[in-house]
Amino acid sequence: MTYLYNEISQTYLTDGYVIVDSHQVALDQLNQHAVRDKSELSVIDFGVGHGTFLKDLHSTGRFGKMTGVDISARMLETAVNTVPMDGIVSEIDKIDQHIPTQSVDIAVAHFVLAYVPLETVLEQANQVLVKDGYLSLVTTTNEEGLTTGWVYPLLDHCKASFNPLLRLVPFLAYRAIPKVKAPENFASIEQSLIEGEFEIIDRQQQRFTRRLETPAEGYSVLIEQGWCVKVIDLPGVPFSLLKMVARYIINRLPFPILGTQVVETILLRRIRPDCNLTLAEQGWKANDASQPQANYNV
Ligand SMILES: C[S@@+](CC[C@H](N)C(=O)[O-])C[C@H]1O[C@@H](n2cnc3c(N)ncnc32)[C@H](O)[C@@H]1O
Repeated sequence: MTYLYNEISQTYLTDGYVIVDSHQVALDQLNQHAVRDKSELSVIDFGVGHGTFLKDLHSTGRFGKMTGVDISARMLETAVNTVPMDGIVSEIDKIDQHIPTQSVDIAVAHFVLAYVPLETVLEQANQVLVKDGYLSLVTTTNEEGLTTGWVYPLLDHCKASFNPLLRLVPFLAYRAIPKVKAPENFASIEQSLIEGEFEIIDRQQQRFTRRLETPAEGYSVLIEQGWCVKVIDLPGVPFSLLKMVARYIINRLPFPILGTQVVETILLRRIRPDCNLTLAEQGWKANDASQPQANYNV
């Protein structure tokens, strides 16, 4: 995975309309509920990419400390040149090894749930966020993409082909699909949020219909910009060879290809009881049988 994003770090698209529009919704949500008249806030971006969202936050003038975490050193390099921030090369599930417990006001996790389970993001956010801290979540879901959308009809087309390389597409795709951990829909996200001890402050769903006209556009969007690069995640095989095969296959797909991306933008507030509070402050009754034996985060 690291190598994939290192390879596409120069062509990864951060100013495409899906990302720009959903980042704008996330920014509005934060401005309305979390930032308001505050200043000197701290923020950490899980999977910061090119740092475009931190740049948006920086422009509000409300942030004193910005930290970006990414598994790809090359993505991080671009981010550090985009916005004043501390960069940490790390996997999201190890962020708590780098950041002090309960030290950050706002955490951001945008377009990373295809790589990291939501539960991991929530647990790491719970570790680093202050009490009542906010988490801004943006994710595509599988609500349309893999079922009623273009992927399965396209795989059927490839399966029926006489071209052995085209028949390779379903093989690669069915290997990749289980690895794409994007949530099924909003209902499945909501359940995890309750279990992860976050409450929803604001939520907006957007649907983006995309029409890829030509193989060149298809290759650029699906591979170079990163939307489907995971399909060619074959560690050990040179990336240049994988790109050649991908280009060959995409050139033979039936264009135009039409698909709809469903994007959820959700602002959450951490509601996990603080370990520094007494049990009475946490709302437990003195004779409550369900009273916990140990506190969180100790
Ligand atoms: C689709 S990009 C999103 C970038 C950015 N959040 C945005 O909204 O533009 C996903 C980013 O997550 C990073 N990433 C993927 N898996 C990761 C992991 N396990 N730990 C940390 N970063 C990861 C990738 O290197 C990439 O920069």
